[in-house]
Amino acid sequence: MEKLTGLKKIKTVVFISGTGSNLKNIIKFSKIKKSPISIDLIISNTPQAKGLKFADQFKIKKKIFNHKIFSNTEKKILLLLKKERIKFICLAGFMRVLSKEFIKKFDGIIINIHPSLLPKYKGLNTHRRAIKNKDKFSGCTVHYVTATLDSGKTILQKKIKIGAKDNHASLAKKVLRLEHMLYPEAIMKIFN
Ligand code: GRF
Repeated sequence: MEKLTGLKKIKTVVFISGTGSNLKNIIKFSKIKKSPISIDLIISNTPQAKGLKFADQFKIKKKIFNHKIFSNTEKKILLLLKKERIKFICLAGFMRVLSKEFIKKFDGIIINIHPSLLPKYKGLNTHRRAIKNKDKFSGCTVHYVTATLDSGKTILQKKIKIGAKDNHASLAKKVLRLEHMLYPEAIMKIFN
């Protein structure tokens, strides 16, 4: 792989499936001078992803891949990433699991944000599970992506207290605010 640091910003794609609040946050971060990355592409697996509006708002190229057979889709995504010289993938609320082949073939780094203190609560409904188990703390994790769901090496993690009055919705809001701090910090940590 080419050297990732230097004067030029690292060409980055963000993969989304939903609201895209992390996407918006990463785009804003990418625009500050000290950011090591630029956001050059947004990929969604569904045309319904609300976050796609940020592609228009910030004039970033977007591409929707909503084919049923994801392995064919992955080949197309890899070609596109090569063409666009993308070296860094940020998953932000992307609801598909990337295959081992995709991860091996991509010439760069892939990271993800997950709304729990991994290795606790991999997968979905993290906040409901934390509330149900009467956990005292929750948080979020940015980690490298491997072919096993939410299992790659942790880059950074942030923790918050779960209040006595918290339910899964209020906890989700709190953790999302934390995610918006954590993702840029994790990106800085990788490239500095
Ligand atoms: C975040 O909680 C993220 O950790 C999880 O999905 C949610 C996406 O939120 N993987 P948004 O689309 O970035 O607002």
